Amino acid sequence: MRLLVTGAGGQLGHDVVACAESNGDDVLAASRTILDVTDRDAVLGAITSWRPDAVVNCAAWTAVDACESDPGRAFGVNGLAVRWLAEACHRVDAHLVHVSTDYVFDGTLDRPYVEWDEPNPQSVYGVSKLAGEREALAPGPSAAVVRTSWVCGEHGANMVRTVVRLTDEGGDEPGRLAFVDDQRGHPTMTADLAPALRRLALDRRSGVHHITNQGAVSWFDFAQAVIVLMGRDPDIVRPIATAQLDPPRPAPRPANSVLDNAVLRLSGIPLLRDFHEPLAELVAALSH
Ligand SMILES: NC(=O)c1ccc[n+]([C@@H]2O[C@H](COP(=O)([O-])OP(=O)(O)OC[C@H]3O[C@@H](n4cnc5c(N)ncnc54)[C@H](OP(=O)(O)O)[C@@H]3O)[C@@H](O)[C@H]2O)c1
Repeated sequence: MRLLVTGAGGQLGHDVVACAESNGDDVLAASRTILDVTDRDAVLGAITSWRPDAVVNCAAWTAVDACESDPGRAFGVNGLAVRWLAEACHRVDAHLVHVSTDYVFDGTLDRPYVEWDEPNPQSVYGVSKLAGEREALAPGPSAAVVRTSWVCGEHGANMVRTVVRLTDEGGDEPGRLAFVDDQRGHPTMTADLAPALRRLALDRRSGVHHITNQGAVSWFDFAQAVIVLMGRDPDIVRPIATAQLDPPRPAPRPANSVLDNAVLRLSGIPLLRDFHEPLAELVAALSH
């Protein structure tokens, strides 16, 4: 497969490139310096000249709080740029796999979200990502939107890296770290998500898919799981409510971010494994 990966310098993009290369694909790893997805001419030029079989769009402005104060940039990167990608893919019959987020939901449902639940984003980031989903699917059946959640990989800033660093920096005093216990989701490791994205590209699957590792936890539970894997005392972290965050974060987050991977399940496609296994691999890699 000839695969173009946008946002190849990000944590997910890095692992999609690595996965595709290890499977013998012909890969164009387009980091932001090579391809700015907000530049329509550049996007059309790159895709119509290189003529990939598929494009995996890992480019995004993921600074959720910063998006609140710069909606123009958020909509440019997360929304309108996907129009250029979809348009270019349509011209050369390339399959587009576009990555989206649990933050398109408001998190008020009392069960995991399936692909057909109505999005209702509460943050600028979430609204801009929903715009991107719609742009991806607009030209017709040759695009997949993949909603994932709580993404962590070896090559980026994320919760696991933060917890490893904070744990290493201090001792075992109980409760010296605090994480919220009233937001729940599925942690997802890029090492597992990347092959799933490549598979959707190869099979030219279309429509919305929820793809996450399995196992729903709060951020507090997730932090404790990381600390246990480091061989340290999980009681150094204490649970707090989102309302106790000081200062409060500008962007609201969904309390329930749990994505039911219903389309995979109903299609007979194996779900990603429980997050504890790939988390152990990631903690080992980050602890060296
Ligand atoms: N991280 C999460 O917890 C999470 C959760 C749910 C869904 N997602 C989604 O998963 C996808 C991958 O996220 P990630 O965690 O890998 O984020 P990331 O590490 O921030 O990677 C995003 C990449 O996009 C690049 N980018 C930004 N603006 C661009 C532009 N105009 N043109 C080209 N590239 C641009 C960034 O480059 P610079 O660094 O140079 O700006 C960065 O390399 C995104 O669609 C995100 O919305 C992430």
